[in-house]
Amino acid sequence: MVCRESGSLVCVKKGANIIRNGGVVSFPTETVYGLGADAFNPDAVRQIFALKGRPADNPLIVHIDTLYWLDFLYEYIPDYARAMMENLWPGPLSIILPAKGSVPSVVRGGLPTVAVRMPAHPYALKLIEYAGTPIAAPSANLSGRPSPTSAQHVFEDFGDKVFIIDGGSVAVGVESTVVDATDVPLKIYRLGAITPEDIQKVTGKPVEIHVKPKDGRPLSPGHAYRHYAPEKPLHVFKDEEAFMRFVEEHGAIAIALEKYRDITDRFISLGSDEKDAAARLYMALRDADRMEGEVIAALMVENEGVGMAVNERMSRAATYIHGGE
Ligand code: TXA
Ligand code: MG
Repeated sequence: MVCRESGSLVCVKKGANIIRNGGVVSFPTETVYGLGADAFNPDAVRQIFALKGRPADNPLIVHIDTLYWLDFLYEYIPDYARAMMENLWPGPLSIILPAKGSVPSVVRGGLPTVAVRMPAHPYALKLIEYAGTPIAAPSANLSGRPSPTSAQHVFEDFGDKVFIIDGGSVAVGVESTVVDATDVPLKIYRLGAITPEDIQKVTGKPVEIHVKPKDGRPLSPGHAYRHYAPEKPLHVFKDEEAFMRFVEEHGAIAIALEKYRDITDRFISLGSDEKDAAARLYMALRDADRMEGEVIAALMVENEGVGMAVNERMSRAATYIHGGE
């Protein structure tokens, strides 16, 4: 069920009760909605994997409300990692470090490390505070589907199977940056609103991007690498002319920045810049499935700042990527 706050955090308190009793709750963060359970209760965390249909070897992010919890989660914290926490939290950054043995293996997907983040959303922070425990949470979508940026999206995927705290539409719209801080150079496993430059600036350490490139390779539907995918085939373009030609020839549903609105009636706007595009991308992919038309075409945005994350998510959602290197 969807619980809408009326100003007194009633839904957050109900949610915290469910978490304390070993249940699962969906809650808003600044990036996307999460599907959370008590990080120190392995049986509770197992329910998340079952609900999502998530492979057991894909680890979860542990969400905290204060730095107090770090001693219970990380084996050690290098100074440069501490600098990220102090300067970039609360915010869309998940930091991987060696885990304390007390972090259940199911949370870590069997790895010796754990990813932790402090979300910048008042409901998320209050939920953790009232639950009195860190909350392990992946994005609140069925495995392979676009991540949810509203309570309605969570409801589409899980219906009444989970208690959903409605916090309206999220601010960022793509998942947190994931950085492995166990060693220098730091390694970025997932791009997000916190950029490699942000991390480099704050740590003074070199940063490498370890996101598998899939440019120029056609992906077959159902391929293991396809994520965030709509049900209809999605063609992703780097080049605006090729994009416009394809939309016209195939009567495709078009997803692009607002300035392309006139190219077709079947248009879904990503807003005016990369930041808007991040906030709207997943909603656009879900909406496209509902619109008339057999095929979807999306045009990448400028590969700058959060635009890098937008383009990377588009590529992962794609059935075909046009344009090569
Ligand atoms: O913005 C977000 O991060 C959202 C909100 C709810 O906080 N959460 C989220 O979780 O996107 P999820 O489970 O959908 O994505 C977590 C990513 C996965 O790609 C996972 O493989 C990676 O983080 N990850 C987590 N722990 C890891 C670890 N110890 N080592 C390597 N990768 C890890
Ligand atoms: Mg996810």
